[in-house]
Amino acid sequence: MKGLPIWVILLNFAKLFITGDCTSTQDQVLSILVRTEEHAIIARNISSKYETVLWSPASPEHIGAGTEVHLYVPANNLRNVTNQLLTHKLRYDVILDNAQDLVEMQTRNVPTDPRISVSYYERYHSLEDIYFWINKTAVDHPDMVKVILIGSSYEKNPLYVVKLSGRQDGAQKTAMWIDCGIHAREWISPAFCLWFVQYSLTFYNQNSEITSMLDQMDIYVLPVMNPDGYKYTWTTNRMWRKNRSQSKNSYCIGTDLNRNFDANWCSKLDIISIPLH
Ligand SMILES: *[C@@H]1O[C@H](CO)[C@@H](O)[C@H](O)[C@H]1NC(C)=O
Ligand SMILES: *[C@@H]1O[C@H](CO)[C@@H](O)[C@H](O)[C@H]1NC(C)=O
Ligand SMILES: *[C@@H]1O[C@H](CO)[C@@H](O)[C@H](O)[C@H]1NC(C)=O
Ligand SMILES: *[C@@H]1O[C@H](CO)[C@@H](O)[C@H](O)[C@H]1NC(C)=O
Repeated sequence: MKGLPIWVILLNFAKLFITGDCTSTQDQVLSILVRTEEHAIIARNISSKYETVLWSPASPEHIGAGTEVHLYVPANNLRNVTNQLLTHKLRYDVILDNAQDLVEMQTRNVPTDPRISVSYYERYHSLEDIYFWINKTAVDHPDMVKVILIGSSYEKNPLYVVKLSGRQDGAQKTAMWIDCGIHAREWISPAFCLWFVQYSLTFYNQNSEITSMLDQMDIYVLPVMNPDGYKYTWTTNRMWRKNRSQSKNSYCIGTDLNRNFDANWCSKLDIISIPLH
């Protein structure tokens, strides 16, 4: 066992030699100062390439002169991106030099972590944990919760809907639909669905608004709409957004689920030109 730390150090050295660049072994977030319209064109271009993820502003068309752009760049493309920025004289700062640290913090479950003291509903959970939670919630609240299997995903993960109903059955109940987790990497979304279900169950018969809401309508909650992608963000790539389907017509994996409604959704973005996102 004594030899272990030395091995770790040697392995890290090996990593440095292979890449020849210590900064590029970590995913980073860059802050890019866009001063002119020409800069904006370059920044929009870069933000739709190199597997980058635009953290701010919300979408590339909001990048203009005067915008501060926050861009997540995977380690393997850091060189390319910073080269592009330098070539076009765009100033940037590294605002997060090891994004992986943050990713690990989100999933860590060790007793020394201060986050361990927060409740189940203030932490993120794997797909398996969420399936377990769905089952347990139904078992614990048989009078108000029904689990409905509505189908399965491309990779055959089940799609469970949690149906919430008050104990007072109104004559003509209406219904509400809530789905979470359409984009795999947006973990806060399934976390919200779990929170919402628990909150509703806890405050039914305590809070008059929640009581009358559940007595007058059934609420159908799909906690994870994109289980394949969600699972993939836990196992392989935290930044994955789409599902994991394969298509004959493209070498790219996955369909971005919300780009497949027959509507514009306020977006002018030409998604066809960004095949990998
Ligand atoms: C985007 O950048 C690439 C080079 O990385 C270049 O070939 C391409 O023409 C650029 N597109 C636009 C719209 O500037
Ligand atoms: C990034 O740079 C490397 C060489 O530094 C090159 O081989 C690779 O094709 C580049 N990737 C892109 C997407 O331009
Ligand atoms: C919950 O799990 C148990 C055993 O694993 C199973 O018998 C039961 O049908 C499940 N309930 C629901 C609502 O999925
Ligand atoms: C994933 O994408 C394919 C289309 O490529 C679609 O048929 C499938 O229903 C999608 N959704 C899920 C949840 O797997």
